[in-house]
Amino acid sequence: MSVHSKSSSAQSVAERAAELRDQLHHHAHRYYVLDDPELPDVEYDKLFEELQAIEAEHPDLLTTDSPTQRIIGKVLDGFTPVRHAVPMLSIRTETDTEASGAVAFDARVRRELELDESDPPIEYAAELKFDGLAINLRYEHGVLVQAATRGNGETGEDVTQNIRTIAQIPLRLRGAELAPPVIEVRGEVYIRRDDFDSLNERQRELIAKGAKNEKTFVNPRNAAAGAVRQLDPAIAAKRPLSFFAYGLGAVQDWTIPPTHSGLVDALQAMGMPVSVERAVVHGADGLVEFHRRVGAKRDDLPFDIDGVVYKVNDRALQQRLGFVSREPRWAVAHKYTAQEQMTRLLGIDIQVGRTGKLTPVAKLEPVFVGGTTVSNATLHNQDEIDRKDVRIGDTVIVRRAGDVIPEVVGVVADKRPPDTQAFSIVAKLQSKCPVCGSEITREEGEVDWRCSGGLFCAAQRKQAMLHFASRRAMDVEGLGDKLVDQLVDSGLIRTLPELYKLGVAKLVALERMAEKSAQNLVDGLERSKKTTLGRFLFALGIRHVGETTAKDLAKHFGSLDRILDASVEQLLEVNDVGPVVAQSIHTFFAQPHNREVVEQLRACGITWEEHDGTADNAPKPLAGKTFVLTGTLPTLSRDDAKDLIEAAGGKVSGSVSKKTHYVVAGAEAGSKLDKAQELGVVILDEEGLKALLPP
Ligand code: IVH
Repeated sequence: MSVHSKSSSAQSVAERAAELRDQLHHHAHRYYVLDDPELPDVEYDKLFEELQAIEAEHPDLLTTDSPTQRIIGKVLDGFTPVRHAVPMLSIRTETDTEASGAVAFDARVRRELELDESDPPIEYAAELKFDGLAINLRYEHGVLVQAATRGNGETGEDVTQNIRTIAQIPLRLRGAELAPPVIEVRGEVYIRRDDFDSLNERQRELIAKGAKNEKTFVNPRNAAAGAVRQLDPAIAAKRPLSFFAYGLGAVQDWTIPPTHSGLVDALQAMGMPVSVERAVVHGADGLVEFHRRVGAKRDDLPFDIDGVVYKVNDRALQQRLGFVSREPRWAVAHKYTAQEQMTRLLGIDIQVGRTGKLTPVAKLEPVFVGGTTVSNATLHNQDEIDRKDVRIGDTVIVRRAGDVIPEVVGVVADKRPPDTQAFSIVAKLQSKCPVCGSEITREEGEVDWRCSGGLFCAAQRKQAMLHFASRRAMDVEGLGDKLVDQLVDSGLIRTLPELYKLGVAKLVALERMAEKSAQNLVDGLERSKKTTLGRFLFALGIRHVGETTAKDLAKHFGSLDRILDASVEQLLEVNDVGPVVAQSIHTFFAQPHNREVVEQLRACGITWEEHDGTADNAPKPLAGKTFVLTGTLPTLSRDDAKDLIEAAGGKVSGSVSKKTHYVVAGAEAGSKLDKAQELGVVILDEEGLKALLPP
């Protein structure tokens, strides 16, 4: 089935409409009934919009069975059908992801209500558009009696057994004594991103142990839908489902609050989980601002959203606005740019990392996803390639969320061309490093293949040099990846100490190297010589020795010579150093060539202050305290603030939780500040932080 054949001249508009209907029925069945989509949602939406556009232009082509005219989905044999007392509607989607999408909705509402410019702005309830599946929860006299999926909107499926396993969903409402005879709560079942990751982790373990019928999931929405529609509730119970309430179904003898926001508050008071990310806003400006604010924190949310939802807040106005073909005129879903897209996998390159790790990288037909054009995406390792059965020539789903490296999350199985072959890193490389030709190896129990060439390998040399020069290591200004490529490729530099022997004269001989940049680099190198033992150790790039371990080693031993001579047992005495790390450090310094590099670097004039190893005596007023930094502080850089807090004995963490003691917030602080306020964590500005530090 060809999805992309757009209406050619040979194909009449009527034929195209019929083709689209068939395709949409097919994909809706895969998506809604089988929970096994062949297309990412955006592709489905594109087909849907194309059909809607044709029908709008040619009303005579509109058929009663068009997917645009009803909400699709058949009931599976295994579940009892449930006829909804009040149909479960869908909301119109605004796919203009810019502010203009919100402005257009407000304009439409005002037009329908026949308001003119002198009338005040409309009040809206703005919410998140959760990416899970809609559920109707029926409570009779405060007790959960039935949970049903949306199905086709008229009739869904009875999934009470499975829904009862969701701890977040109350089996009895708060204040049940006063609860009405009937109240139906509507909302979304979804899976948090961290839960999704652990779920897939568990699935991978099961598969590794030989479980036959297990698979990993492409995204949280899929996993949630699959879990809710599991025939065995014991399996559903193991799936980490969550729920947010956002609406109402049938009610008896209950006075519905006059606004939507009031309704959600009432649901919350009854014990239903509702999102904190909601607001009552006014007019188009309010909608635009909400869309922008949520968009800025989208990647920091613990779950996926694909947009926000605006609802006219006043229920009386909602009634005046009414419905068009099963969609309320008073609500709209305003989307964000998609984080997943489909594209073709043209090839697979293998990259060599700093520690020799070989990473397969997908070469893609360029595609716009998550706000940029992506043509490379990571495939992680051989196990991941096998698990997803990714083959060159496949149509793949690429995901790019926030600053995360784009990744291939899955393959669109029915679009596989004939004659593809399973991909093997070993076969492709013929067991040799693509950069230096050394043998590649994989240790028992490891997922990654590695080049065994060490610093003989130019790729590893380059990465090692970049790491050495990086900001939190030796902090050599002016040494970026282009220059490192040039230095290594020209043969000018083979070892780290040679960096310090570069003179301006040698540098200007390089292509495109001006005297000024050459001088800047030489100055940068000179400045980097005065450093700390922790930075120096981190810069060496010893496997498993990150910044914190390096600092701990420096603090514990106080001098480099004591570290060079430390036994594994002595290394194990260091804070947070376990057997793997201790062994790695020991092995590193046991290699004569590593010792030589260290000696040469010292001979170049790299210095730091040492102490006798009996720990530092600086006061530690912040011992045991955890800080989170957010936003831009007026004078301190983030690194400086971190160093100061750590020097005073405190810890700096990346996310706010109940265990956070202080959040230090600067300008343009984001969701971390909101979270801190929500949890009642103490919030400091730069001055407040300085006041806690020793003089
Ligand atoms: S309200 C009459 N609010 O989007 C309006 N729906 O096509 C009924 N959804 O089936 C839905 N977040 O699965 C509403 N804050 C939200 C939502 C939301 C996600 C889903 C829901 C619904 C679909 C609408």
